[in-house]
Amino acid sequence: MKFLAPRGTKDILPKEASFYQELEQASRQIFFNYNYKEFRTPIFEDIKLFQRTLGQTTDVVQKQLLTLKNEGEDEFALRPEATASIVRAYIEHDLHLKEGFSKYFYVGPMFRGERPQKGRLREFHHIGAEAIGSLNPYLDAEMISLAVKLIESFGIEGYTLNINNLGCSKDKENWSKLLRAALKDKIDNFCGLCQDRFQRNVFRILDCKNEVCKEALKKISLKENHICSSCQDHFATVQEALKNLKINFKVSPFLVRGLDYYTRTVFEITHGSLGSQDALGAGGRYDNLISQLGGPDLSAVGFALGVERMFLANKKIKETKDSINAYFITLDKEASKKGFLLLNNLRNENISCDMNYEEASLKSQMRSANKSGAKFVVIIGEDELKNDSVTLKDMSSGNQEKIKTNQLLNELKNKL
Ligand code: HAM
Repeated sequence: MKFLAPRGTKDILPKEASFYQELEQASRQIFFNYNYKEFRTPIFEDIKLFQRTLGQTTDVVQKQLLTLKNEGEDEFALRPEATASIVRAYIEHDLHLKEGFSKYFYVGPMFRGERPQKGRLREFHHIGAEAIGSLNPYLDAEMISLAVKLIESFGIEGYTLNINNLGCSKDKENWSKLLRAALKDKIDNFCGLCQDRFQRNVFRILDCKNEVCKEALKKISLKENHICSSCQDHFATVQEALKNLKINFKVSPFLVRGLDYYTRTVFEITHGSLGSQDALGAGGRYDNLISQLGGPDLSAVGFALGVERMFLANKKIKETKDSINAYFITLDKEASKKGFLLLNNLRNENISCDMNYEEASLKSQMRSANKSGAKFVVIIGEDELKNDSVTLKDMSSGNQEKIKTNQLLNELKNKL
């Protein structure tokens, strides 16, 4: 029986792993510039953490948690996102006492048991950030500008940034009442899922992708403004700061998010090339989550970018070839013995090198050397063994010379 990777997951082969590394390295530098520190949390958590934070009625909790059960223990779930875990860890380690205002970033795999399709996987990767301990609107603007900066630094063009203001929890309550009242007589015009959402989570009707619902929504008008003046001021400052940073955005009154914890500013960055799963990344404020989980009353804001979707949106990412410094060609057993020892000496001096472990002809070993992309080839044959030397070939110029074995390290150091 041949085993295959589970549906919705994918093996990251070495060629592709270098894309991930590049993206991660570039992000780390940008996070450093904005003074965000890396946070690593477990891949799985108590399932109740996600049920409490993301919302019992959200799709992620209802349909997408991948669970783990161990006889006699609590039920766990693989993390579908990292915000809940970071808040849990922040409270567990009393970081509000130790650090006060904190800025974190994370990079890693997330898991959602969704029906796989283009841009929708069961294991995918987030690059994300969370800032805990401030309600300052400049922090919302910083988060948005940071997300945009990352996307641009990955060479992605033609994205759209949508922002919205959900208001504080009181505003959200008012809004859900207003929405229910406005939709009550018209709910039959919406899809079955939205009819269900009307009771469970009325906000989700606003961003239903079904064309029928989109049309029906155009006929709904909310006469009252549900956002209090303090939340309106907050959002005005966010917009002004974004304009000053010359970041283009659209205010989308129907942008709500698929997770329940959001308040005030929410945002989503989409890309036309992605099809129906068009969000490259998203985030927003969650000013009540920390206290809801038993922590102090602190505001927070964050976002996460989907790494696989960024690869889909950037057609320019090219295969990079990680090439080693030197490749050894050894022509008999005695030469292999000597070559194997020299490899070790060079590696200890941080010179990357390798050899062909099969005893093959010079021609076939040369082919392997070419394939490895090595900058230099070191040949050891009968002649070299006799004279305690090696032949060093520069693969870019094709020049080769015989040098004493004890000069190899210095020669390579000088030439690399
Ligand atoms: P989210 O919108 O659920 O937000 O996910 C963020 C991004 O992850 C999405 O925009 C998308 O690019 C990517 N993504 C989500 N699900 C999948 C999937 N099944 N396959 C591939 N990519 C996917 C969050 O997770 C929040 N924690 C963001 C946040 C942080 N809000 C505040 N702080």
